[in-house]
Parts: sequence; C-alpha cells; structure tokens
Amino acid sequence: METKGTPPLSLVIFGASGDLTRRKLIPALYDLWMDGLLHPDTEILGVARRLKSHQEFREELSEGIRSHSRYGVRDDARFQSFLSMVFYQSTDFEDPSGYDTLRSFLASAERVRKTKGNTLFYLATPPSYFIPIIRQLGAHGFSRSRNSGTETGGFVRIVIEKPFGRDLGSAIELNGELLGVFREEQVYRIDHYLGKETVQNILVFRLANPVFGSLWSNVHVSRVEIKVMESLGMEGRGGYFEEAGIIRDMIQSHLFQVLSLTAMEPPVAFEAEAIRDEKVKVLRSLKPYTKEELSQNILRGQYVSGVVEGTQVAGYREEDKVASNSRVETFAAMRVEVQNWRWAGVPFYIVAGKRLARKSTEITLFFKEFPFAIFRLSQCQDRVPNTLTIRIQPNEGISLRFGLKRPSSVLHIDPAEMDFSYQKSYQGNPADAYERLLHDAMVGDSTLFARNDEVERAWGYISPFLSDPFSAPEPLPYKAGSDGPDGLADFLIQS
Ligand code: BG6
Repeated sequence: METKGTPPLSLVIFGASGDLTRRKLIPALYDLWMDGLLHPDTEILGVARRLKSHQEFREELSEGIRSHSRYGVRDDARFQSFLSMVFYQSTDFEDPSGYDTLRSFLASAERVRKTKGNTLFYLATPPSYFIPIIRQLGAHGFSRSRNSGTETGGFVRIVIEKPFGRDLGSAIELNGELLGVFREEQVYRIDHYLGKETVQNILVFRLANPVFGSLWSNVHVSRVEIKVMESLGMEGRGGYFEEAGIIRDMIQSHLFQVLSLTAMEPPVAFEAEAIRDEKVKVLRSLKPYTKEELSQNILRGQYVSGVVEGTQVAGYREEDKVASNSRVETFAAMRVEVQNWRWAGVPFYIVAGKRLARKSTEITLFFKEFPFAIFRLSQCQDRVPNTLTIRIQPNEGISLRFGLKRPSSVLHIDPAEMDFSYQKSYQGNPADAYERLLHDAMVGDSTLFARNDEVERAWGYISPFLSDPFSAPEPLPYKAGSDGPDGLADFLIQS
C-alpha cells in the first residue's frame, strides 16, 4: 500500500444502510484511519432511505468495525475520533429536496473541515438507483467542485460499484448517463479484485522477472486456466443471483480483469492510462464465436444439494427467492482465445462457480512439453508438465511445478514444487482490497479502476454467452461440495 495520505474531503456514500457499507467500506476507512492514511478533516456522510440519527448510524457501523476491520477496537479514543467523522442523512434517492440538504452538508464540511470542496461520491446502492442518483447529482450541479457555493475548486469524483450494467446495452446507457454529468477522469468504476495485492502482483511478477516474463507467450505456454471457486452459496442473495447468474456476477467483471492483466502487453509506462490501454486491447482481441461455436465453448452448471465443508446445504433451486425451475447458472467454464501475436493458439479457460468444495482463486499457466520425450525411450512413461500457479486467494502465493528424478536405480520422474507463500514472507494481516481502492479514489489514482471502454468491451464479448433464463438449456447439475459438473475435466483439456 502506498503511504500517501488522503486529502481533506467529504465522502458521500449512497446506499449506506447496506451490507457493503457495514462490512467493507466503513471497516476499510477505519483501517486507513488507524494506519494514519485518512486525513483527520474527512467527513463521511451515509445517505440511505431509512430514517435514523447520526448516533444510530454510528452504532450500526461500530458493530461492522468490530467484526470486519483489521485493527478492531484497540484504542477507544481513536475509535471514537473516527466515529465522530461519520454522519447520516435519510433521503429518498429520487427526491430532489434530499440533494438540497446534501448541498448544505457539503458547504458546512467545506467551512468546518476546510475540504476545499473536495468530494467523493460513492454509489453503493442497488444498481437500479445508479441512474436516478447520477441524474440528481447532475441536476444539482454536484459534478463541479463549486457546488458548495465557493470558488475553491477542489475535486469531485464518483465511485460506482459493480454490477456496471447487466449487458452491453445497459452498460452503454449507464456510461452515457454518467459521462453526461461527469468527465471520465472523475469516474471510478470499482472491481474489488483489482484491489487485491495478489492481483496487482500479476503485472509485477511478469514484468520484473525476465525468467518468467520471457516464457509468457504461445512459444512456451500451451494453455491458461483462471479459476475462481467459491464454497459459499447465495447467502441471502438468491433474488439478485436469479437476475445475474455467475457469468454476470463474476466472469464479466472479476475474471475478465484477471484475464486482461494476465494476457496484456507490457504498458509503455506504469500509469493508469497506459495500463488500461493494454487491458482493453486484450478484450478487443478476444476471438468472437459463431452461435454454434458459443455452445461448444461454454459449460454451464447449477448446484444441487450436497455437503460443503462438513455441512449439508440446499441446492440452488431450494435457496430463498430462487425459482424452483430456475435455469440460472451457478457455475460456468468458458474457453476463450486472445487472438494476437503473443497468444494465438493458446486457449484461456475461465472458470467460476458457487458452492464448490473449497474457496480458491488461481491462475495456472501450463507450459509446452519438449517435442521429443527422450525418457520414453528408456521405458519411463512418467510425464510432469511444468505449471506455474499464482494463488490469488487464499494461501496467497506462487508455485512452480517441475519433474525430477526419483532417487532410485529405476528411472522415474516425480513431480516437485517450488513454492512462495505471502504469509510466510510477510507476516501480518494484509490490507483489504477496499482499503486500497478507497485510498486510490481519494488520492485520485485510477489505475485500479475500470475505464468506460474496458467495461463496454467486456460486456460486448460476454453478451452472446448470456442466456435467456426462460429458453436457456438446462445447466448441468453438480453436487454442492464437489469440484463442478461432470464433464469439466474433459472440457478443460480439449483444445
Ligand atoms: C462479488 C460477487 O463481486 O465477489 C460475489 O458479487 C462473490 O458473488 C464475491 O462472492 C467474491 O469476492 P471474493 O473477494 O470473496 O473473491
């Protein structure tokens, strides 16, 4: 984490009664405060529909801080001073008068805290409110720093949570509304995967190590797997998931971000626009499929009841707010190809699923074998393809698999591993992704946020894979607690 402190500002969180605010945003802000990175002249205003006082809101958040922050409450004075920066405003997001009240709050923050008008809006509401809020902010002139009646010219930025649209058309519409009010450089589209240390390390690992960087192409790599396996099920989000499915929920956003970082060319500079330019090029290079090819390059699954980590759990169709005949996929494996000089001919397998045996997010590069297997001539049939695995979470690290001679008079090749573990090398509790991302939005670094063309390219590519829940083919059933549907192993080795 950079050590640059944030400037004085007002942070306005729309959707402040939600889980995200309580479990992620406020604990992250508190941890930044404990690290000395949050300016003491910060005012945090939670905006939501429910009526409550500042004090009630602070009490709600205290519980979130105790359970979800890295620091917890060790120093009561510091804890209280953090809470004293937090305020609450009850507003119907579509009611213009609420925005007049917001204006007075910002004006007073500017006077009392000398925020210079610096304002960061954070949209953490359900997506259906994004456009109404953006319109109200526009109509009230909040996209300009002079909104609070002075000419001090601070910055105004807006962070938007995922999902950014639900297909290409809605993403274009949302970008249109947003860019009708804010300039692109004011907009921070969040994808919390980009805030993970191990995701940021993908580029560093590739570009700081000639040993690995020079292997990073179709000359040496035969295929790549990017897998995000989760043991969690719906956790009360069945209604949302019925609308989303795993392709929208995970693949279009998180997995495509990881894909872009894994496959992109080195940027001309290590800075936001240069990196984002290269990421977009990856998405532009994805090979489009015909209708027929689409079905051959995707495997869709849905979990049925089973045992996960020792507990019997319900199937997807028995989850709350899920239709008993739902065809929404909770698992998907896609094969995509990056059609460019570096990657032509290398399949990238993108896999994500809920209610699997364990939580694990990994990228694995499988390396080509020598065309001539000399040991086969000596009756040794053992094969150990070299692989490089980047473990994004948990047990964050990197491992390289290779073959070596088993100590014996008969020739055998055994697999062996060189392993790096973050936990062993860097003790302590790493910062949460939201800490990094909130910090960056406050200091104005957009490197780890998605640009408008990036989001639209990702939707453009993924849209044909999205199926109509009514006419979609039945997803393949897989047992909760398994590794996914039968047929996955075959799907992953076909090229
Ligand atoms: C969210 C998805 O964006 O990411 C969730 O909506 C998913 O369905 C979560 O569980 C996974 O995040 P992480 O950081 O636990 O891998």
